Amino acid sequence: MSIRRALGAFFWSCVRGLSGGFYVSTSMRLERLQESLCTRRFGKRVLYSRVVGSTSDWAKELARLGAEEGTVTLAQTQTAGRGRLERRWVSPRGGLWFSIVLRPKWKACEAVRLVFLAGLAVAELLHEKYGLRTETKWPNDILVNGKKICGVLAEMNTKGEDVNYAVVGVGLNANFCADDALSGSVKMNATSIERELGRRVRLESLLEALLEKMEKMYYESANSGLAPILERWKTYAEFLGHEVVVSDQEERLRGLALDVDPDGALILKLKDGRTKQIIVGDITFFRK
Ligand code: BTN
Repeated sequence: MSIRRALGAFFWSCVRGLSGGFYVSTSMRLERLQESLCTRRFGKRVLYSRVVGSTSDWAKELARLGAEEGTVTLAQTQTAGRGRLERRWVSPRGGLWFSIVLRPKWKACEAVRLVFLAGLAVAELLHEKYGLRTETKWPNDILVNGKKICGVLAEMNTKGEDVNYAVVGVGLNANFCADDALSGSVKMNATSIERELGRRVRLESLLEALLEKMEKMYYESANSGLAPILERWKTYAEFLGHEVVVSDQEERLRGLALDVDPDGALILKLKDGRTKQIIVGDITFFRK
């Protein structure tokens, strides 16, 4: 076993902690992560499993049981990783697959902020830490060189008009080569940190930096709302001003991506000159 692999196994070593197949990490590195982490709540409790169905399903279960804000579920691989629009999320070893329990005191209609906040945190971090030229793609993708490196899945449970709890899942393709680990159309459109940098990165320092950034944005946004986050997010949004095709499960629309409005909806200018506000969908865009 190589030294790198041995250290990796050490980092990921864990003991069975809770009933029901959950694992609580006792590895030194995760403990150190929690000690050096400069956050108030995010990641103060990290639950780790080598294999889990979906870290988001796990986090939702914990949230239902009363887990506090900032609780993180983390896995080495997921067997039933989920993406938006009921898609499967392929989660090989080497990726950073985690979810976080949040209890924002917001209206449910404001929770879209979480998608932009998490996407912006990843885009900024990969740029600042590794010099990657990241871009954000509406609503929840982060790309490098036109290929997806990360996706965000935000889900919530409501109490009347309010958010009861939310779970934000982040899937970041880190230490694997997308060409080897993925297949089919996913592989064609995906990249990873390893592929872009030509080397592996320390997952624990990536997670630490990401949690710190996400927490800062999250608490700042409690006062300032979505607007400042969205402005920063748009500085990475290369699709704006381009011809795009927007598809959801029912229709496909082609037009010019004009803007993302204050509610997080895409504003599309159609061929006939009309503008349309799109709330749900995926975009493919044609670079000039
Ligand atoms: C998307 O691009 O459609 C969102 C992908 C989100 C994947 C992450 S991986 C960690 C968490 N657990 C899941 O099952 N999904 C999210």
